[in-house]
Amino acid sequence: MTPLDNVSWVGKTFDDFLFRPQKGMAGSRRDISLASVLTGHISLELPIVSSNMDSVTGADMARAMAMEGGIGVIHRAMTIERQARKVAQIKRSQSAVINQPLCLPLGTTIQQARNFAHNHSITGILIETEPGSNILAGLLSQRDMPWNSDYDDQPVERFMTSFDRLVVDKPGISIEQASKILFEHRIERLPLVDAERRIHGLITRRDIFSLRERPYSSKDDKGHLLVAAAIGARGDYLDRSAALLEAGADCLFIDIAHGHSTVMEEAVERFRGRFGGVPLVCGNVATAEGARFMRDIGADAVKVGVGPGRGCRTRLETAAGVPQLQAIRETWKALGDSIPIMADGGIKTDKDIFLALVCGATTVMLGSALSGTDEAPGRVIEDPVTHTKKKIYRGMTSPEAVLESLYDPENAEATDAALDTPPEGQEIQVPYKGSVNDILHRVRGHLRSSVSYAGEATLQAARAKILSNPEKYLVPLSESSRRESYER
Ligand code: XMP
Repeated sequence: MTPLDNVSWVGKTFDDFLFRPQKGMAGSRRDISLASVLTGHISLELPIVSSNMDSVTGADMARAMAMEGGIGVIHRAMTIERQARKVAQIKRSQSAVINQPLCLPLGTTIQQARNFAHNHSITGILIETEPGSNILAGLLSQRDMPWNSDYDDQPVERFMTSFDRLVVDKPGISIEQASKILFEHRIERLPLVDAERRIHGLITRRDIFSLRERPYSSKDDKGHLLVAAAIGARGDYLDRSAALLEAGADCLFIDIAHGHSTVMEEAVERFRGRFGGVPLVCGNVATAEGARFMRDIGADAVKVGVGPGRGCRTRLETAAGVPQLQAIRETWKALGDSIPIMADGGIKTDKDIFLALVCGATTVMLGSALSGTDEAPGRVIEDPVTHTKKKIYRGMTSPEAVLESLYDPENAEATDAALDTPPEGQEIQVPYKGSVNDILHRVRGHLRSSVSYAGEATLQAARAKILSNPEKYLVPLSESSRRESYER
């Protein structure tokens, strides 16, 4: 594609353009496809990625993102084991059949079972006859679990539903048949066992419901939700990668502030040497040279953005950076569609997402826009004076994030790296926003409207049209037209 690029991109970002409305297509906006690509091998029905920040993406956010058709990147400010556990948690959930359901043996105490359920965020535990036997002895559901701690030292068999009273079925049962059985018996879980009572899987009512409600969720070829995770570029990053891949991660992110660097080059080379063609997104860069460098060293997608983020102080502290829309355009002109571009940072409103996508990106990473939600890590705090509810959003190199890692003895690697450079991030309080599902629902709706105003039936078509001829479609704004557009 040769762009007729007489548009001046220098110094430009999202508030500098509108696009000319085109003749709308007939039909419902609900049918407009927003499908796009994350890497050559992974496509998404909603081109949104939640940022690998400790105030944005843990397991809850990653699950919600995949359920809505996007993907979450689990941050790495934690031990390898914890991060891998979060990945495994997502890969286990929401698939039609949980292939390797978690089990505990007979003799486990209620206290141990309670901790186990909490650590793995599950509400029902299959009980096996002895450790590793995989022979079903019973099921301990949330309903069976005693409420108070009086029974904490009692064995699970005192409270579980034992095998002879359980409804079970054979492996290979269809989802329709399983739904019927779940309904007929008014039960939540259907363990799948063979003639020897060996456990082959588990089907839950909740997972079947979620699957029906969200046909566009992001899945691998076995029907499990997609999840990505950050690994860094130094220290334990190869061991981290091995553990995350073992846990089922679909895509890894080498994400450092200055991606156009020898650190990145060496990191990718060693990664490829050990893990071959595992989908790998690398960032961040903000220039044509940086983007070509990423492609040439073997990145499957490149993350673009130096300093536009809401929690970033890089530009303020170092003067390094490129206005975000200019960076997206410049990197796309260097790469074309040879590898996908992920626009990262600086999204303030939904129209910014559309502009990022039609100027070169194929996906957009969001941090602050998804913060403050139920699914973002961290607690809701209430202002004692105004009674407004808030959560914390912070840059990963904010003094607060660095300080916290200093108190984490298991995370010395991260601490050393963080102390290498002075903080280039900040912490802010953001309003509590409720469920991220509502935000993603809104984004999906606005993106579909933008596609419709662009006169197309798919995001791909709108992107191709505007990418190839931005001069025809984009309207540069003056100071007064910007006021007319955005000031209310
Ligand atoms: P938004 O604007 O969506 O940006 O909140 C999210 C992106 O900000 C980047 N990030 C940082 N940049 N110092 C920085 O300069 C930091 O401490 C920092 N923490 C996050 C990151 O790329 C993220 O996706």
